[in-house]
Amino acid sequence: MSQNLAYFTEENSAETVIARMADCREPRLREIMESVIRHLHAVIKEVEPTEQEWMDAIRFLTETGHMCDEYRQEYILLSDTLGVSMLVDAINNRKPSGATESTVLGPFHFDGAARRELGANICLDGKGEPLVLSGRVLDDDGRPIGGATLDVWQANAEGFYDVQQRGIQPEGNLRGIFTTGADGRYWFTSVRPAHYPIPHDGPVGKLLERMGRHPYRPGHVHFIVGAEGHAPVTTHLFEPSDPYLASDTVFGVKESLIADFRRIDDPERAAELGIANPFWSTEYDFTLVKAA
Ligand code: BEZ
Ligand code: FE
Repeated sequence: MSQNLAYFTEENSAETVIARMADCREPRLREIMESVIRHLHAVIKEVEPTEQEWMDAIRFLTETGHMCDEYRQEYILLSDTLGVSMLVDAINNRKPSGATESTVLGPFHFDGAARRELGANICLDGKGEPLVLSGRVLDDDGRPIGGATLDVWQANAEGFYDVQQRGIQPEGNLRGIFTTGADGRYWFTSVRPAHYPIPHDGPVGKLLERMGRHPYRPGHVHFIVGAEGHAPVTTHLFEPSDPYLASDTVFGVKESLIADFRRIDDPERAAELGIANPFWSTEYDFTLVKAA
């Protein structure tokens, strides 16, 4: 009985490997692996790595894995810095125009932040320039959504999240979950966010440096905004004067998410709000689309 011999050659490499999946019973896995194999072989044929370069690549991936633990996910940083996280986000969150655009979740969110009253100050250590954030959550017809939730988190004025400075910042600093009133409004006090480097003491940070790239993200406040019957949006508001807006290392900036930060010099209003004068103020309306 003759065998259909398809020995591996440089020319037929991808097709030969793909043909071995003839018995694959998972159509989606087969589709994905076929594409991965085709593109990987194309990359190798294009760059023709030396054996040493290929071993360096394997070592890089090994170090990336070794850097991962319960608190650190180096592969997500790799995906973020290569623009892959934002591409996956864009493909999975195509929205009609006018809906609030999404951006990366990042590694510093945690479930179960404290629920806070509207107007609360999420800055628990009083450090930084005060910032008042307010606005509404609207549906795609422009109607306010009462009972919508805003899960908020941000780095402090020195660019660190509470989870990066356990024992230095109070636990739960600069985090909170707010619920809009019947008029769809939210408001709370925080601090003006500063730019910060993503964790760059691992293989991804070294790769960024070798690629001639910096590790910074422009100052931002993270939000997950949700409401019953609507698709939640994971997004940020960006500080408009930040020098890294045009070069965010994870490509998370969208023009519609750059907020308007106004500097307010009003001692009476500051005293009413219980914050120092002068302070910053930004107003931003989030628009959610109905759940499919
Ligand atoms: C963040 O914004 O918290 C973040 C996003 C991606 C990578 C690292 C940090
Ligand atoms: Fe962040």
